[in-house]
Amino acid sequence: MPWCYPNPWTGNTKRVRKVLALLLVLALAALTAATTASAREGSRFHPAVETRLGIVATESPAAAQVGRDVLERGGNAADAAAATVFALNAARPQSCGIGGGGFLVYREANGRSDSIDFRETAPAAFTPDTLVPPGLHKTFTGHLTVGVPGTLAGLDLLLHRYGTRSLAQSIAPAAQLARRGVPVEQSLSDSMAANADRLKLFPAAAAQFLQNGEPYPAGSILRQPDLARSLELIARKGTRAFYGGEIAQRIVDDMHTGATQPGDDHKLELGDFKAYRSKSRRPLVGGYRGRTIVSVPPPSSGGTTLLEMLNILSGYDLRGLGPSSADELHFVAEAQKLAWADRNKYVADPDFVDVPTAGLISPRYGAQRRAEIDPAHAQTYEPGTPPQSSSHHKPGGSPADTNPQASTTHVSIIDSRGNAIALTCTIEQEFGSAVVAPGTGFLLNNELTDFGDPGTANEPGPGKRPRSSMAPTIVVQGRTPVLVVGGAGGARIIMGVVDSVLNVIDFGYDIAHAVDAERTDDPTGTMTIEDARIDASVLDELTARGHTLARVGEYDIRPRVQAAGIDPRTGVRSGVSDPRTDQATLAQRYRARRSR
Ligand code: GLY
Repeated sequence: MPWCYPNPWTGNTKRVRKVLALLLVLALAALTAATTASAREGSRFHPAVETRLGIVATESPAAAQVGRDVLERGGNAADAAAATVFALNAARPQSCGIGGGGFLVYREANGRSDSIDFRETAPAAFTPDTLVPPGLHKTFTGHLTVGVPGTLAGLDLLLHRYGTRSLAQSIAPAAQLARRGVPVEQSLSDSMAANADRLKLFPAAAAQFLQNGEPYPAGSILRQPDLARSLELIARKGTRAFYGGEIAQRIVDDMHTGATQPGDDHKLELGDFKAYRSKSRRPLVGGYRGRTIVSVPPPSSGGTTLLEMLNILSGYDLRGLGPSSADELHFVAEAQKLAWADRNKYVADPDFVDVPTAGLISPRYGAQRRAEIDPAHAQTYEPGTPPQSSSHHKPGGSPADTNPQASTTHVSIIDSRGNAIALTCTIEQEFGSAVVAPGTGFLLNNELTDFGDPGTANEPGPGKRPRSSMAPTIVVQGRTPVLVVGGAGGARIIMGVVDSVLNVIDFGYDIAHAVDAERTDDPTGTMTIEDARIDASVLDELTARGHTLARVGEYDIRPRVQAAGIDPRTGVRSGVSDPRTDQATLAQRYRARRSR
């Protein structure tokens, strides 16, 4: 007889029943402990916002309200994104606006994906040596650092392709915020204080963002009438008011009359504005453990680096190793250094440089690079030779990005129909170049400081776009966008996205835990590590393997991630803002009466 013990559920032995019940309780307790250990919540953990309608994740409460409002009036994800970004110009002016640029990935509910590059562009007079001599630009400040802004052209293209509302409708809420005023968040007040000395170099910037030379206190109201006028002008006359008209003229006039600080210089002319185009580019598509990853192509390095890392990591059982185990952190760090060496050498503006994009993101190349990893020792790596790389690649790589302050912001939106957008916009570091051309009301970017040294693929050039780290990305499971993600924080952005993707796919975290979890970043041999939630034995083991650790405590200040996603089983949408920044994720509360 195969079953020789009394059956505990029907049998007669109370003692066996008790033992089994105890075992069950212990097993459940162990399971709960394991789950908690694998997603140890930080002190700032926030649960996700959930809905069956649309969701807007940003790091600006005022801008998120504008985006949600558009969804509630029947706009789609593209409409909501455009209005949200214009609103960010008024409410989070230190990070994003029509004086800057960015990248987006849009995925329609029918499964078609697109990406738009609205990166800033160097003036025609820019040469590889322009940024070499000493000057104000070495402090990431002033007129020479300003590229032709792309945000307005990018949003206009987005609305033309996918939107249902006009540019004027999309701008109206932002113009109202600028005219009536927005509450100053603590983050804006802090950033005003940190940048006050730079702002004081340029009178229009100081007048707009300081009160008697001091930052606006948190909770006070910031009114920006010049910004309201610029936005209203664009709403009336369209993009030509900016690129061929009054606004470009004001900026160029300021280039000629306002670059008066010692060491300041300028190159931007009216012809550069007239020549500017946002570009639709085929998004990068890769696979990772049965999911489809859709991300941005060069000139951002975000997509190639993410996909190369995922290809390398696909050879390891990260789930089996365990999140934030020594092995998992070791393999992620080694994969990052490998992908980073390739990023630094190869990725630049593909309209000027032969970028071996397909080779960099090929699974076979990822496997080749993986073979260089020693499981027991941390290493540094040379760039590899991806398929399609040719002999005319420039020697040497651009050094790691130099601006430690780089900022930016990100918006993730899903609408009730399932259209999804991941959009990252920037004026480079907080407060950009610190220049506001008188009468315009918006900050000009300092994006040209994202160029590398002369002689590298990412060297400056006339009409060229500097390499970016922005990584707006959509992860699709079956036909469902389960993670719509991106972040802020300059070159730190990429690992914010990589960690979020691994946490969702490998470790099965919901998006709130995925974004909250501890992060690492190891581009070239020093691992910045949010160590507070990591076991001491793991930190010791990493050091023993040769990793140099820069411990930053529980939460670093960047990268700052925004995420949304649809649960493929239930259709419920959830969204979350990174605990490292302002909480501004909002769910659509009701369906529009007339949905378009
Ligand atoms: N300026 C930030 C980036 O483009 O990555």
